[in-house]
Amino acid sequence: MDRRKFLKFSGLGLGSVALLGWGFNRFNILGRENYYLQGNYAPVKEIITEDRLEVVGNIPKDLSGLYLRNGPNPMSKPNIKKYHWFGGEGMLHGVRLDGGKAVWYRNRPVVGGSNPNTHVISHAKKIYAIVEAGGSPVEIDQELNSLTEEPFYGTLKTGFTAHTKLDPESKELHGITYNFPRGTYEAHHVVVGKDGRVNRADLLPLSSGTMLHECAITENYVLVFDLSITFSFLKLGKGYFPFSWNNDHQARIGLLNRKTNDGVVNWFNIDPCYFFHTVNAYEDERGNVIVDAMKYQKVFDDDWNGPFTEFPPYLTRWSLNLSTGNASEQQLDDLPAEFPRMHPDLNGKVNRYGYSLGVGSGQKPDFGRIIKYDFVKNTNEVYELSEEMEGAEPVFIPAENQKSEDEGYLLFYVYNKESNKSDLVIFDAQSIKSGPRAAVKLPQRVPFGFHGSWVPA
Ligand SMILES: [Fe+2]
Repeated sequence: MDRRKFLKFSGLGLGSVALLGWGFNRFNILGRENYYLQGNYAPVKEIITEDRLEVVGNIPKDLSGLYLRNGPNPMSKPNIKKYHWFGGEGMLHGVRLDGGKAVWYRNRPVVGGSNPNTHVISHAKKIYAIVEAGGSPVEIDQELNSLTEEPFYGTLKTGFTAHTKLDPESKELHGITYNFPRGTYEAHHVVVGKDGRVNRADLLPLSSGTMLHECAITENYVLVFDLSITFSFLKLGKGYFPFSWNNDHQARIGLLNRKTNDGVVNWFNIDPCYFFHTVNAYEDERGNVIVDAMKYQKVFDDDWNGPFTEFPPYLTRWSLNLSTGNASEQQLDDLPAEFPRMHPDLNGKVNRYGYSLGVGSGQKPDFGRIIKYDFVKNTNEVYELSEEMEGAEPVFIPAENQKSEDEGYLLFYVYNKESNKSDLVIFDAQSIKSGPRAAVKLPQRVPFGFHGSWVPA
């Protein structure tokens, strides 16, 4: 299908049909094994440095830098029954590109006591592997080696987050952080200045043990996503990943005013749900706040090992009306998708385009397609990966001297089931249906993981 009409103004669309098969067949997927240790979820054991890389196609000459991705890779033998995908020891996979050439591939474990396995970001000329729930970021060097657990020049005194948002104007990094398993639940709004040092850590009035995976910023606000997953003593006591679906917890989105900095959160109740990832948030012309995110109807309820086998995620929009105090919700697309990305300089501003990994509506995620959203035309564009390929989070990198928002590249790892190896593929974001313009053949597979970044040279 070429361009699909995807904006739906009324609740669940076709996607709700797919929910049925997804839930009922979960036990056939899991069998006696842990789904999140099978296939390309399984860890790799070899630590490789390879500077002789075959390239198919042409790497853009304006892409010079380091593509990095973090994800779970249990090096020690995990408890198969209790292993949770979010808990595996972090490993980085990186490819350095320079003036049209692929210089090297490396993978390195993240070395740190708090296992920052979720994202890897660069800020103020430093690179950090990061995680939520109290784990300290680990500073990483340009060759993927772990350096220190004293991030931000030793100025971080709170927990951190797996998802920061860079203000494109002030160059400040915002995060909604929480500290939990180490003791009392405490959430903060943390700001890391453009000098790389924490300059604010304001305590948030939250006590419910909510799992704060993501945040967002707009021109005037920082958004707090207090959704339907909370800390679970039951799961903790049984030795499982200690967060669970909680139907009794009022899901809500909070606005913290960045300008008045008064510590007051303006809450908007929403229907029970969870989302790990937003595409973006911004204020519309009436001053209302718009949030686009990948919504799960339910997650971490029946499946105690990971997010993917209960309900598929759908691109959904929440509109927060500041005059009435009400929130409205609409599903925007009927293709299940995760790992959304967009232009890195548009946090909190109106974005026309977004990109995601299509996960499919079958009995298990297939990671089988890349989706580009046009929020002005209300259309999407889809590139279906070939049968033996499974994709990952598409990171958007603007082209040099770009003239339009989508002029740039999508970079992500693709796993080939037949060769049991991965490629780093590069798409032109303006023509994703043309398929990859370059593929860097890697010496091993890159397991399914979480998030990555482009670090310009
Ligand atoms: Fe995430």
